[in-house]
Parts: sequence; C-alpha cells; structure tokens
Amino acid sequence: MDIRIFPNHEAMTAAAADAVAGVITRKPDALICLAAGHTPVDLMKRLVVHAREGKFPKDRFRFISLDEWVGLGPKDSGSCIHDVGKYFLDDMGLERGARMFFFDGLAKDMQAQIDGAKAFLAAHGPIDVIVLGIGMNGHIGFNEVGSAFDSDVRVLPLDETSKTVGAKYFDTPRTLESGITIGMRQILEAKKAFLLASSAKKADIVRQALKDPPTERVPASVLQKHPAATAFLDAGAAAKLNG
Ligand code: F6R
Repeated sequence: MDIRIFPNHEAMTAAAADAVAGVITRKPDALICLAAGHTPVDLMKRLVVHAREGKFPKDRFRFISLDEWVGLGPKDSGSCIHDVGKYFLDDMGLERGARMFFFDGLAKDMQAQIDGAKAFLAAHGPIDVIVLGIGMNGHIGFNEVGSAFDSDVRVLPLDETSKTVGAKYFDTPRTLESGITIGMRQILEAKKAFLLASSAKKADIVRQALKDPPTERVPASVLQKHPAATAFLDAGAAAKLNG
C-alpha cells in the first residue's frame, strides 16, 4: 500500500483531488465512488473547481454512493446524498440521473436498494476509483468492526462509536441505528482505492489500519490487501505510523 504524507489537510486534499481528476481525465466515463463525511468535503470542492476550469471532463463520469444512513434522505443535511449533492454535484451543475446511483435511505424496501446498487455495478463496474474516509473505529463506508473482508453490499447495524461520532453531521438529534453500504468486496474490486485521513485524532486508528496486520476488527486494514490502494494522510493522521 502506498502511503503519502502531507504537511496539512489542504495539501493532502489537493493531491487526492488531482489523483481523482487524473482517473477521470484518462477515462471520461470512469465510475467513481466518494465517501461523504467531513474529510472529503475539500476534495469535492477542489474537483468542482477543476471541472469548472476544464481540467477533467464532467459530462460522462458515473457515480455510485458509498453509503447512507438508513432513515435519512436528500433533504436531511448530513445525509450522504445531501452532502455529496451540496459539495460536489450541485456546484458542478450536475443532476442526479441515470449515470448515478445513490442509496435511498428512506426506501421502505432496502433489499431493492441493495439490488439496485449491485445492478448498477454489474452494468458499469468495477469502480475505477473509490475515495474512503476512516471512522474512529476503523470503519470504511459503513463496513463496521467485524465486517468480513468479502462482505457484499448490505444493510447493517451501526456501531455505538459510529452513532455517537455521527451526531457531528446533524444540527438536530437523529436516530442513527443502521446504514447501507458498498461492501468490502466492492472496495477490494475497485481499480484504485484512496483512503483519506486528517488530524491527530485519527492517528491511532490510522496506525492500526496501515501498520498492524490486517484484521476484520479494523475494517480499513483490508486496504493492505488491495492491489492499488493509496493512503493520503496529513501530518497529524500520520503521526503514529512509526510509533
Ligand atoms: C461517510 C463514510 C464514513 C466516513 C468516516 C469518516 O460516507 O463512508 O465511513 O468516511 O466515518 O468520517 P469523517 O471524514 O467525517 O471523519
């Protein structure tokens, strides 16, 4: 696994955005998958600027969402579909259409959501580049602690850590019980996987994920098994890699 360390979040984000833009430039109909959450927001904003400047074509790439809170929809600020729209698609002038798949956290039939994601991946996959953040418990997407390394797209209960930390995304208290996510299998099948981490509060879990032997107890450690994974870290997140 390639580990790239940058002096700060801004430099880390710039490099990761350039790498994503490069994938789309080389393959304009690339399938991309971006985590929501706080870490990739500046990457999305940079991609919007790159697209406006014509640095990569924005009219053909395909998009699949990484995950969603079950029970939340596009009107809920803090949901994945809302935030990817706000920071990425809307400012690029793109509408959610046939070349995009978003999980609908409000759907009554979650199995149909799983089937929809799998059908989209069967038609357009594998993912060309997937951008992941890392949870405080090591989750990637909503692949929580204990997720099998061959797990598929699925709905699963959220860890207590994810529920507690997840409150940071919402202005008002939310009931966060379960999530729907792209599985470890799809992450391993992605042609490129980028893990982004910023700040010293991630340093412990980043070390466990990148330096300790891979274990299902630390989901992000699966990336050590990925043939083309890159970790983009700021100095804070990388602080314990040699400890
Ligand atoms: C969000 C997601 C999560 C986050 C992770 C880190 O779509 O997939 O796995 O990437 O919880 O979140 P932040 O970046 O807010 O620290």
